[in-house]
This record gives sequence, C-alpha cells and structure tokens, in this order.
Amino acid sequence: MPRIRPEIEPLKPYLGGPGIEEVARLYGVRDVAKLSANETPLAPFPEVQEVIAAAAADINRYPDLRCVDLTEAMSKAVGVPGEFLWFGAGSSALLTNTARALGGPGRSFVYPWPSFVMYRVNAALGGAEAVEVPLDETHSVDLEAMSEAIRADTTLVYLCNPNNPTGTYRTQDEVRKFVEQAPEDTVVVLDEAYVEFVQAESSSQAVSMALERPNVVVARTFSKIYGLAGLRIGYFIGQPDTLYSLRKAQIPFTVNALAQTAALAALDFPERMAERYEMNRRGVEQLESAFEDRGIEYVPTQTNFIWFRLGPKTSDAIQALLERGTIIRLMIGEWTRVTVGTRAENDKFLADLGRVLAEV
Ligand SMILES: Cc1ncc(COP(=O)(O)O)c(C=O)c1O
Repeated sequence: MPRIRPEIEPLKPYLGGPGIEEVARLYGVRDVAKLSANETPLAPFPEVQEVIAAAAADINRYPDLRCVDLTEAMSKAVGVPGEFLWFGAGSSALLTNTARALGGPGRSFVYPWPSFVMYRVNAALGGAEAVEVPLDETHSVDLEAMSEAIRADTTLVYLCNPNNPTGTYRTQDEVRKFVEQAPEDTVVVLDEAYVEFVQAESSSQAVSMALERPNVVVARTFSKIYGLAGLRIGYFIGQPDTLYSLRKAQIPFTVNALAQTAALAALDFPERMAERYEMNRRGVEQLESAFEDRGIEYVPTQTNFIWFRLGPKTSDAIQALLERGTIIRLMIGEWTRVTVGTRAENDKFLADLGRVLAEV
C-alpha cells in the first residue's frame, strides 16, 4: 500500500459527479440540466471559439509561461501593472499553490464554513491546521468571528465574497474593516470568483485593498461569467513581492495556450458580459419567486446560484432529480445549491423539483 501522508489520508479524492452525457446515458433521459457547478449555461462567444480553434495549430509548443499577451490585456482591464497579476490553471490552482506556500506544521488557515470546498482540501494539502469559522444565522460569513479566529500561527485566511455555496455577500466596507484588522504577516485571499454577478454594490474595492496591503490578494476566474470553465484559467491580483513568494509553490506550464488565447479574446466583450449579468438576474428572480410561491426556504443570492432547503430527505431528492435529468449535487444537511441556468433549464429544474418533492 502507498504510504499516504497522514494529513491527506482522511480526504476523499475530488471525483465530481456525473456529467451531462453520463446522466443521459445512465437514466435514459434526453433533456439534462446541469445545475451543479456554477458554470454559465451559455457557450463562449463565437469570436472566442474561433480563436481557440485557430490556436490549436500551435499546441506542439509549450504555453507562454509568463502569459505575456494576456498580462498586458488584463493589466489594462483591471487597472494594475502587469507585475501585480498571476495566472493559474483556474483560480483553484492558485488557491492551492498559496496553501502549499504558506502551510506546514505549526501553522493554521482560517476560512468560513460552509464555503468553497477547496479551502478545506487546501488546508490538508498545505499541512496546516484548519480553523473553520461557522457562518452566522443568515448564512453569511461572520467577519467578526473570522477576525477572532486568527491566531499568531495563522498564515492564511480565505475569505469568499460572495460566499459559495450560500450566495451571501459582505459589503466592501465590512471587508475593508476585516482586512485592516488582519495581522500584516497573515495573507488574506479575497476570493471573488462570483464578483461579476453581484448586484448589491456596483463595484468591488478588493483590488485597491490589495494595492494598499502586501498581505492581501484577490482571486478571480474566467470559469464563471466568462464561460471558460473547461479551459481552466484564473488569476490573482496582489503586490509583486507577495506574488513572487507564492509563485515558488507553482507547477510550471499549467496555464495552457488555448486558455490564455481564449481569456484574452473574452476580454473584448464587456457589453455582452452585461447581458449575461442581466440574464442571470432574471434567472435568480425566476427561481427565488418560485421558491417563495412554494414555501421553500432559500437565501437571497448575489451570485449565479441559490442555497435552499430541500428538507430531511435531501439526498433522496437529489438522486430523484438526477434520474429526471436535473443535476444538483452539493448538500450539507437539509440544504443544497442550485446553479441558475437558462430559462429552459430553470423551468425544467422547477418542474422536476415539484414532482420529486411530491414523491419523496
Ligand atoms: C469560491 C470559488 N473560488 C474559486 C473557484 C475556482 O474556480 P476555477 O478554479 O474554475 O477558477 C470556485 C469554483 O467553483 C469557487 O466557487
């Protein structure tokens, strides 16, 4: 038997659930709505698909390790010099690199819980003690409790805003106050994977917090509103010295050439991003008002997913939904999460949910 590191042994491999084709095959359903992973339901823009196809001819070469073209374009888009950017194979790769760089025996990581499942995995991979801070009674990140949980040995804090899986949001003033209280030698990762969907405030100040403080970095991704989840690309924004230190834990050449080309092309369509934002908000309204009509408890969302209470038979209901072709996977106790889909996918989910709740 392999002698797995003791801190890794209790983890379950991240195997994910069945995809669209597999569900169709397994349960003999033609119409499948995958509402389990918070992806956008829309295909990448046609122009982006074209550059991906064209870039295929050059993939006998290793990708540009320094992501030069993308860095230049992002630097303009985000308004920071290129040295303040670090790309990874999805922001989750960067979150993991950060854990590898900052973990080790006698160190702790603080993060909210429930939150993004990779924080828990990263604490184990980083060999650090996990300090999980429960959400408050409104399913929101409890920033006061997070501040109190930071100890002298805390080298890393993950702060997910809006929070996955609950969709709750802390204002920029609240986040700033938290960041100001954090010790200067504790890295605070402001994970903004869903920032483009936020309605509560018109803009995030996380980047300016990172520019002001060497211990603050911002994590963002092309996997959500940009529609590039399958290519794996995300980025950190932070001060060059901080990013330089964290990069020591990075595996080289993981940001592939197609991902770099596609991300660069995707930046050209801000007006279509606005359309996607609007479409998502319409979907949120559709689902939230359906939950309200049916008396289903839910948490109002600032994202492209909704946390709702499925009840004591959550796991049976999720399985029954799967057999009807609606994929929602994650659950914690009586609660689960559904990703906002297209109008047709949301209709299917609501129809299937109605039938399943009548049966289980
Ligand atoms: C809160 C949060 N952060 C980061 C990620 C990672 O996204 P990716 O690795 O696709 O960039 C996700 C993905 O679901 C997420 O929910």
